[in-house]
Parts: sequence; structure tokens; C-alpha cells
Amino acid sequence: MKSIKDFNLSEKKVLVRVDFNVPLDDQQNITDDTRIVEVLPTLRYAMENGAALILMSHLGRPKGKPAPKYSMAPAAMLLGKHLNLEVKMAPDCIGPEVKKMVDQLKSGEVLMLENLRFYAEEEKNDDEFAQKIAGLCDVYINDAFAVSHRAHASVEAVTKFVKDCGAGFLLKKEIDYFNEAMNNPKRPLVAVVGGAKVSSKLGALKNMLARVNKIIIGGAMANTFLKSQGKDVGKSLVEDELLGEAADIMARASKSGVSLFLPVDAVVSSSPDAPQHAAVVDVENIPKDTMALDIGPKTSSLFSKALSDAQTIIWNGPMGMFETEAFSRGTMEMVHNLANSKALTIVGGGDTDVAVHSAGEAEKISYISTGGGAFLHLMEGKILPGVAALERAAG
Ligand code: 3PG
Repeated sequence: MKSIKDFNLSEKKVLVRVDFNVPLDDQQNITDDTRIVEVLPTLRYAMENGAALILMSHLGRPKGKPAPKYSMAPAAMLLGKHLNLEVKMAPDCIGPEVKKMVDQLKSGEVLMLENLRFYAEEEKNDDEFAQKIAGLCDVYINDAFAVSHRAHASVEAVTKFVKDCGAGFLLKKEIDYFNEAMNNPKRPLVAVVGGAKVSSKLGALKNMLARVNKIIIGGAMANTFLKSQGKDVGKSLVEDELLGEAADIMARASKSGVSLFLPVDAVVSSSPDAPQHAAVVDVENIPKDTMALDIGPKTSSLFSKALSDAQTIIWNGPMGMFETEAFSRGTMEMVHNLANSKALTIVGGGDTDVAVHSAGEAEKISYISTGGGAFLHLMEGKILPGVAALERAAG
């Protein structure tokens, strides 16, 4: 695919798809601006090279209808602070008024379009809608890695209607890091997979199995594996319909020489809301009326040892319900393992990202992806529709 550097941007209207799907509090304050900060290099580059910048994004899931609480205005405002200029806010993302604002936009100025998902056509990857967006620009840049797993009009169809299409620096950086880790990794390559459900990680687990030397499984999803080994996991979250898949993954790992690590002990309680009853037990002795809510200290040591010789580590999904302090230790120790490792360390997924930041260790991780679903898509070995579209556009 082409990159923003391949185009002459001078005096051009440059439309950049960004992912400003950022968390907001009740007062519409942005509580984490990482996704805005991470595209600044692309935006600054375009402005320095004479572009008039038009930005477009979605925020939340407004289901094809305008809703003030999903306006892009707070993101435009915060971006303006970062760029130290006024970011103009359009009342819509298409239509005559927007066209007029775009026509008046000068080199070095920035216009933010209103939420793309106020139109159902965006998620339908509608050609007519895409054509209207495309009509606003001379050059289209996708710098929205985090939404590039969605074949939506502003990500996919739009590339059919603009001659010059390419990737921004963030999209390129995300893909390059991931490819470095997966395609030609320094070994041992270790995948750490956690989170609540095996079902959401099944594709990733299977793809990883074919590529890694070791796989570490934590979080509630480990319960399904433990149960498929015949262990009684009490009231723990289990996906019974996936017991066979879990057994199959373990069998495949052993056949292909991949070391697979599961918890040997757990922090249990009667419910996630009863941290005062937290206790550590071996996984053979989980009381019937309790559930596993974090990995235990023996498991942390086991996982830490498994990671000690790693040269490359990819991590997605927490080790327990880390939002509650009594169940956070396993996830925090995993953060420290990666932070103190000499390996290339790549972390992806919203919860995992939050865990790394709340431990204050973000600086020590080689790369933290801005993507959740998109990162998982890569772990599943799939090509992102947004990337495929840019490759097609490059001919
Ligand atoms: C994300 O936050 O993962 C992306 O912005 C995509 O959002 P979506 O899951 O609503 O499509």
C-alpha cells in the first residue's frame, strides 16, 4: 500500500480517516486521548506539507441516527489544543454545507466532520455514501488502525472513488510492529492470551498455535480449559459448548511442540462483588460455591518463568478482574513481566491497554496498539479490510 509520503499534499484537500472513538465521561470530557495523540505525527506532516486537512471518524454506536452525545465536537476541541490551532467543526459529514466549508478550507487549516455513524450507510459500506465523502478530497489517508477491521464506507468503499489513497504513519506503524513480531520473530515467541471468553479468542488462539513457541492462557477463559481437563472449577465462568475446542487446542499444542501454560492456582471468591472473601486455592481445590477471579501467585511465578527467555511477546487480555484490587495482582504482575523483559513486547486490546497504563508501565512496553478488535483480527491471521482496500488502490 502507498503511504502519505508518496503524495504531493501541497494545496490539496487531504481527507484523513482517524479513529477518535475515545472514552468520554458524563460531562463529555475525554478521559483517554491516546487515539488523538497517536495520529498527531500524520496530521502535522500533512499540514507542514501544505495540506488543507479534513478529518473524519466515528464515535460510539449511534446506530445510523444523529445523537448529540456522540458528536465529534469534544474530540475536535481537544485536537485543537494539541495542534495549538482552531479545529473547525462541521455540522455534518456530507451535504452542501460541509462542501462549502471544505471549499473554503485553506492550506494548514483543519476541519473535523461530524460522526460518520450518524448515517447507517457508513456501516453498510455504501458506495453512494462513500462517493459523497470521496468528493470532498484530492487525497485519502487511512490512519485509523483501530477501525480498519471494519469494512465500512469511510474505511473501505471510499478507496474506490479517490485516485490517491494511502496509509498514515499510525496505521503503518501498527502493521509493521505486528508483522515484525509475527512474520519474522526473534524466538522464543510467546503469546499471552487472557480475558473472559474463549469464544472471542478462538480464532486468535488457533492462529497463534501455528506460530508461537509458547502460549500462556489466563483470565476467565482459562476455566474452560481447566474444566476440559476434568477439573471442577466451581461457579467460575465456563463456556461448556467450547470444552471440545479447548481440548483440541491443548492436543494440537502438544502435537506441534508448543508449550501451553494454564493456571495452577487461582484467587477465588463467592462473587466478583465480594473481594472481602478472596482466597487463594490450587485449581484442583476450587470450592463449589466460589469462582476464579484472578490467577494465583504460583501461576504468576509459572508464567513469569515461561516468559523469562522470550525474545518476542504478544499479549492480549487481562489475567483476572483487575478492575477490582483484590483480583488485580495477576494482571499487574503480567504487566511487570513485560515491562522488565528484554523481548520485543507488543500489547493490544482495550482492557490490556488500561492495565498497562494503570500500572504506570506503558513507557517500558515496545508497542501498545491503539486497536482492540483490529488487533485481535491480526492475531487471528486475517487481513484488515482497510489495509486490503489500500493495497487494492495501490494497484
Ligand atoms: C474500537 O474502539 O475498537 C473501534 O473504534 C471500532 O469500534 P466498533 O467496535 O464500534 O466498530
